[in-house]
Order: sequence, then C-alpha cells, then structure tokens
Amino acid sequence: MFEKTPYPENLDERYALGEAQLSALIDPSYEEVTNDANSAALFASLIDNINWVGFYYLRDDRLVLGPFQGLPACSVLPAHKGVCWKAVDDQKPVYVDDVLSFPGHIACDAASRSELVVPIFDHGKIIKVLDIDSAVPDRFSGPERDWIIRCAQLLSRKSSV
Ligand code: SME
Repeated sequence: MFEKTPYPENLDERYALGEAQLSALIDPSYEEVTNDANSAALFASLIDNINWVGFYYLRDDRLVLGPFQGLPACSVLPAHKGVCWKAVDDQKPVYVDDVLSFPGHIACDAASRSELVVPIFDHGKIIKVLDIDSAVPDRFSGPERDWIIRCAQLLSRKSSV
C-alpha cells in the first residue's frame, strides 16, 4: 500500500541496506518524534505487504499513538488489552500470526490479519512499542521478523528520551 523505494529484491541485501539507512537517519540528538517519524517511513517503504507501521508511547498506564504510516489508528490503547499491551506486559516481542484468533485484539484497521509488536527499552525500561500490521496472515514468520526486532534494538540505543 505504500510507495516503494526501489530496494533490492534479495531480502538479505535489502535489509542490510535498510539497517544502514536506519542507522544514518536516526540520531540521539534529535527529538524522539523526529527519529520515530523517519523510522516509520523507512519501514513502510522497505517492508513488503504491510498496512500499518508505527509507535505507541508508554505513558503511565496508557499506550498513546506516536508517529506512524497507514490509516488513522486508535489514539490510546487502554491498559492490558490487545497485542501492544501484551508486548509491554510480557516485556518481549509478540507475534500474532492470525489476529482474528487473538483474544482482545484491537482492530485499528479491519484489513489487518497478522501483527508484530516489539517493545523498545531505554535503560532497561519499556518506553514504547513498534507495531507492524499486515493484511497477509502469518506475514512475519520468516527472517524479516528477526531483522525488525534487531532494528527496534537499534532504536532503543538511539532514543533521545
Ligand atoms: N492491534 C493493536 C492496536 C494498534 S493497531 O494495530 C495500529 C493491538 O491489539 O494492540
């Protein structure tokens, strides 16, 4: 659904290039929102077959919408419900291959069928999550999932908060 930069077809090459671009784009001296807006745009142009990618910031007992690409989404995710909160509560990435069978899944885009949520830490505490949705069931079963998780770690280290 997103405009694509002509990235290499070969996924190893594509993601090596993407990781280098992400590293070059984000800078701890920039505002958090600046780094995250560019990261969301990069993911949207790089990763095939996704319909939403963005951030939710952890603010007390709420997850609030941050920079994203895709349809307008829920502004606030109430505590301990849905896939994003599961990643916060479990303190680790959550992959749902079929969102229709995930109890409590919050459907911001009715087209979504699979979802990957990766928590992002600052000094050992979760500060936000990276959320990626696809209209394709079981979209993130392959090695791209590991790449996305690695990129989230890069964002952790380079967060300015
Ligand atoms: N599906 C998420 C809500 C956020 S949207 O997908 C953008 C959830 O269940 O937490």
